[in-house]
Amino acid sequence: MRIAIIGTGYVGLTTGVCFAFLGHQVDCLDTDESKIDSLKKGKIPIYEPGLEELLLVARSNLRFTTRAEEAIAAAEVVFVAVGTPPLPNGSPDLSFVRAAAQSVGTHLVRDYTVVVNKSTVPIGSGNWVDAIVREAYIARKGKKPEGCFAVASNPEFLREGTALADTLYADRVVIGSDDSRALEMLYTLYRPLLEQSFTPPAFLPRPEGLAAVPLIATDLASAELIKYAANAFLALKISYINEIAQLAEKVGADISQVAKGIGLDSRIGTRFLQAGAGWGGSCFGKDTSALISTAQEYRLTMPIVAAAREVNYRQRERVVEKLLAELKILKGRVIGLLGLAFKPNTDDLREAPALDIAGKLIERGATVRAHDPVALERAKRECAGLGVVWCDKPEDLAQDADALVLVTEWPQYRELDWERLAREMRTPFVLDGRLFLDRARLAKAGLRCAGIFG
Ligand code: UGA
Repeated sequence: MRIAIIGTGYVGLTTGVCFAFLGHQVDCLDTDESKIDSLKKGKIPIYEPGLEELLLVARSNLRFTTRAEEAIAAAEVVFVAVGTPPLPNGSPDLSFVRAAAQSVGTHLVRDYTVVVNKSTVPIGSGNWVDAIVREAYIARKGKKPEGCFAVASNPEFLREGTALADTLYADRVVIGSDDSRALEMLYTLYRPLLEQSFTPPAFLPRPEGLAAVPLIATDLASAELIKYAANAFLALKISYINEIAQLAEKVGADISQVAKGIGLDSRIGTRFLQAGAGWGGSCFGKDTSALISTAQEYRLTMPIVAAAREVNYRQRERVVEKLLAELKILKGRVIGLLGLAFKPNTDDLREAPALDIAGKLIERGATVRAHDPVALERAKRECAGLGVVWCDKPEDLAQDADALVLVTEWPQYRELDWERLAREMRTPFVLDGRLFLDRARLAKAGLRCAGIFG
């Protein structure tokens, strides 16, 4: 099939490259000329393992362009995968979605095109996009569209860092539309993935036993709600374990054992029960907040989702409290942060706990140094005003430092030369914000180590 994808961020690019790999003809559209130029040269503007390699494999089916008029006119299916960043009041900024929908309406020429919301948009946005496409079409053509397009929702469940595997070997695919022809077209589009009929790339082997991917074909509103309900559930699973971890600390229980003990109950599941500094990233914070504000429009409260948010943001404060308990005074202290990205295997700094923690420590008069194996250059560019001293090597954090804090569990941080770090620090203290480090090894290196819990 011939498809167009508007937006070349994490979601748009991954989706485009995967569909091209599955044999579809894909136009990736963006208004940012420099981004499109570098993509044409095979350069990926984000850090996502395997994406550059898959782009090479799929490149004969891929085009990168800023010319909406060509890409949209040719496409049987147009995906809207633009950003929906949070506004100061917590609701998502839909101006990019609006612009994309206007562009679609202006450039539609085929008898029938499916317009798919891939961006996470508030429940009801399908209808809103439908209205915008319609208006733009009428403004351009001077007549009603008369069934020449339908809107669908196709939420994505990919995680940054494992985006390709999450897409090609998805747990499920969800498509929603009130138009049955749109659902049929999306089914055709996803068929190679649903049936797992493609030959996997060598560097992305198919998980053992995966024979097919389940499809949920439903109405528009249900598909939109599935996305929010899934993210909110994952977010509250993390907050739940963090809440239990607080009690575990008080009663002297080991939260890792507790998490394992409850997670092995298949009704609960072991994943997303890692206690620590809490969630960050562009999704959980934004989506839980959007869910609460949608509920408010219907005079509903969502106390469980609200509590998950509260517990999460308390976790960042907890890092500061633990440091205070250890160092007594933060003014004049030098604190090194290991990790800036909101999680390992991404360079994404949106809502990263490390940045929040850095701000809190600086506010209290500490000097904050920070390192990240991948997100450092981005942090230098995007967070110049924060007042953090950026360090190119993790060892640079240690010189006369009073504490090191592990904020992002990059695997290489487990293997640091802890003896050397201990020698260089003023106070050899490490706070493990993700319960990730080998405490016995740190102790052997002469470091005192405390976990965010315990
Ligand atoms: C999340 C969802 O997992 C995806 O399914 C969804 O598609 C995506 O949001 C989205 O809506 O676009 P992502 O934000 O990339 O994906 O990252 P996750 O792997 O879910 O991690 C989110 C945060 O939770 C990270 O800061 C991570 O450190 C934290 N986390 C995760 C924990 O603190 N504990 C855990 O056990 C798991």
